[in-house]
Amino acid sequence: MAQTPQAKYRKDYQSPSHTITDIDLTFDLYDNQTKVTAVSQVKQLKDTTTLSLEGEALKLESIHVNGEVWTAYQEVEGRLEIHQLPEQTELTIVTVIDPEANTALEGLYKSGGAFCTQCEAEGFRRITYYMDRPDVLAKYTTKVIADKADYPFLLSNGNRVAEGDLDGGRHWVQWQDPHPKPAYLFALVAGDFDVLRDTYVTKSGRHVDLEIFVDKGNLDRAPHAMTSLINSMKWDEERFGLEYDLDIYMIVAVDFFNMGAMENKGLNIFNSKYVLANEKTATDTDYLGIEAVIGHEYFHNWTGNRVTCRDWFQLSLKEGLTVFRDQEFSSDLGSRAVNRINNVRIIRGPQFAEDASPMSHPIRPEQVIEMNNFYTLTVYEKGSEVISMMHTLLGEEGFQKGMKLYFERHDGTAATCEDFVSAMEDASGVELKQFRLWYSQSGTPTLKVSSVYNQTQQTYSLTIEQSTEPTQDQAEKQALHIPFDVELYKQSGEVIELQCNGKPVDSVLNITEAKQIFVFENITERPTPSLLREFSAPVKLEYDYSDSELTFLMVHARNEFARWDAGQMLLAKYIRFNVEQVQAGKEVELSDAVIDAFRGVLLSQELEPAFIAEMMSLPSHNEVSGWYKQVDVDAVAKVLKAIKVTLAIELEDELSALYHSLKQQAYTIEHAAIGQRSLRNTALGYLAYTEQGNAIVTAQYADANNMTDTIAAMTAANSAELACREHLMADYSDKWKHDGLVMDKWFTLQGMNPAENVLDTIKQAMNHEAFSIKNPNRTRSLIGSFLNMNPVRFHAKSGEGYKFAGEILRELNSSNPQVASRLIDPLLKFRKYDAERQAMIKTELETLKAMDNLANDLFEKVTKALES
Ligand code: TRP
Ligand code: ZN
Repeated sequence: MAQTPQAKYRKDYQSPSHTITDIDLTFDLYDNQTKVTAVSQVKQLKDTTTLSLEGEALKLESIHVNGEVWTAYQEVEGRLEIHQLPEQTELTIVTVIDPEANTALEGLYKSGGAFCTQCEAEGFRRITYYMDRPDVLAKYTTKVIADKADYPFLLSNGNRVAEGDLDGGRHWVQWQDPHPKPAYLFALVAGDFDVLRDTYVTKSGRHVDLEIFVDKGNLDRAPHAMTSLINSMKWDEERFGLEYDLDIYMIVAVDFFNMGAMENKGLNIFNSKYVLANEKTATDTDYLGIEAVIGHEYFHNWTGNRVTCRDWFQLSLKEGLTVFRDQEFSSDLGSRAVNRINNVRIIRGPQFAEDASPMSHPIRPEQVIEMNNFYTLTVYEKGSEVISMMHTLLGEEGFQKGMKLYFERHDGTAATCEDFVSAMEDASGVELKQFRLWYSQSGTPTLKVSSVYNQTQQTYSLTIEQSTEPTQDQAEKQALHIPFDVELYKQSGEVIELQCNGKPVDSVLNITEAKQIFVFENITERPTPSLLREFSAPVKLEYDYSDSELTFLMVHARNEFARWDAGQMLLAKYIRFNVEQVQAGKEVELSDAVIDAFRGVLLSQELEPAFIAEMMSLPSHNEVSGWYKQVDVDAVAKVLKAIKVTLAIELEDELSALYHSLKQQAYTIEHAAIGQRSLRNTALGYLAYTEQGNAIVTAQYADANNMTDTIAAMTAANSAELACREHLMADYSDKWKHDGLVMDKWFTLQGMNPAENVLDTIKQAMNHEAFSIKNPNRTRSLIGSFLNMNPVRFHAKSGEGYKFAGEILRELNSSNPQVASRLIDPLLKFRKYDAERQAMIKTELETLKAMDNLANDLFEKVTKALES
């Protein structure tokens, strides 16, 4: 390691010494030598004549100040210091970069045949020396020059204002973005595409050209993205009153991309995974993912672009809020209950795990080495839960008033999380002083709840204790303001009106102290409580429910989420119990009452199919692992499988009947049809473990007229290790070997394969013609699924899984550190495993740490893990 990377601290924020009001960029695009000319209007704001600019992997050609060659400068590690600068200057910097050599996919790089950029968080500094910080907002003009035959489309932010031809077969296009923006929102694309076009008329009558750019030949996979975009634009007008603000909105799909998508002003760049879909190539899950991500990036236009972040510690200001908005969008368009369930699964699974890991951090981190490491489940998903809690406390009306005030105060500027909470508070009159702790405190709070029913007094009291365990980043924890949504039911299922001190009270209780007791009056019989309804706060709930209370709630709870949650709590009881059984060498047991409760769910006439499918889904191995300080990987896997097999065998008749009754003729992506497929394929997932398994799965694969049913069959064959597995996998690969995106589903199944020799087959798959470790989607599909979704084989006692992970990480460290840094997460949690496994994982982490070219991304995580 050349130099130990240094952390930056939130408390050290300083406003910029200068600002850049305008920048004019010219790109002369060549694969290995792209010349970037940046002409910036620089204004001094503080008492210093030295301007410090960020820059990485740049070749500096020249510097001019007000047209004159400038020599008063110094290039230091990662930056350029320009001295003796006049107060107001035109600064011209020429740099040369090598897009083709850029495998990190940050800055300007080549994806397939096209040039594209990724500048968030700190990638613009790989394009030119600049004040690469989000609180410097400039107006951009961009001229793109390239070969006309290879790159007929030359795109950048804003409006196309001029174009022309040049000698030597080259041409140029000039773009102008009227909205001042930070550098991370800059984008450029040059390539040859097919274009899907449409128009949208905003509610005030602005005509917006919509253009989706995809690789040639993929036009028939773009319509769903277009529909999703139009739905997003309409929804944001209706629900938030927010309208689009340019005459053109472009989306480009690229195959090489580190994340999901990027909200660059007027020119979103997307991982092709979140654009391309038709019924032959994409599953229902893919369709819903596209809708959510298209929405997410569109909603950033207001929450992210019009109001941006003052510094990167404030990332949740735009991400938590925009995730909240995209979740509301998906819930308004589809099933609110199913969306809520899936979001809660993410919080209770991987987000809680992150909170408990060496990388624990508050939604607004205090200290960062590599910003790319903080695009996390905590900042995004827990950040969204924090916004959602404010929504619960303020109500929709109060929340919308808060949004309005937030835009009135901060439109066109860079703001902080504190600014957002203040706007919410001031607009609604709801005090959020203690609530702000959610921004600074990391870790997952636990709510311990107990109840007492007093028959003579006709009172029912709930005692609620909150506590948060220390996390690696923060030893001391305080009591949070937690909205706790509660309902009480009579034995008849009737809801009891809540009353305290003679007055009716809202179902949302305000927990603000370490211990509180709520006494409800006029309770004429012992009630069944429904607690933490809608998962009203991202906390762990502990309440000693009996089986019969939970089976009661599975039927009688008024909202669907609470019914699902009761089912999950019932399963959790039996999973915990059976893990102990297995560890004691005993058999897995499930009570008849539990089996009957799930039989009741399957037979229900009133529940939506999509919801029944969720009720029937067991918690994941990862979620269960989170319940334990030290986890017995094999025992958990054994119990989950045994419960699945038991339910399959006991409920085979009901599952079979449902499976056959839900067969559809034609494929549509209506929400009702998606729900039916989801239930039918959930049934298939169980039936795979019965005697008819191989036959029914083989038949579904052969009959499938859409990718959802194809992948459901293959997933069932894979998980249940059916005889047909090999044939299905071979047939699929034959059919799709030329299409990396479609092959990702196959790579994922290879990574998840429970077979003992899975490492051999993974290594074979790495030689598949569709595989390339340079492509993040391929790597995440094959390697990521092995590390994250194949716990038994990854944690094999032999240590071969860990060794393999180490090899891959060392390779990716040099080619693409962002991808490496996401893959390493399961290794950071080594304290969760037994001593032998801990030692083997630690060896891999130590080997990484000793590398002399270890990237900041991995350095930050490895050192934190080894300190744990
Ligand atoms: N702002 C993007 C989003 O949330 C995230 C993103 C896209 C990103 N590409 C990235 C973050 C690369 C870091 C690095 O939609
Ligand atoms: Zn985002």
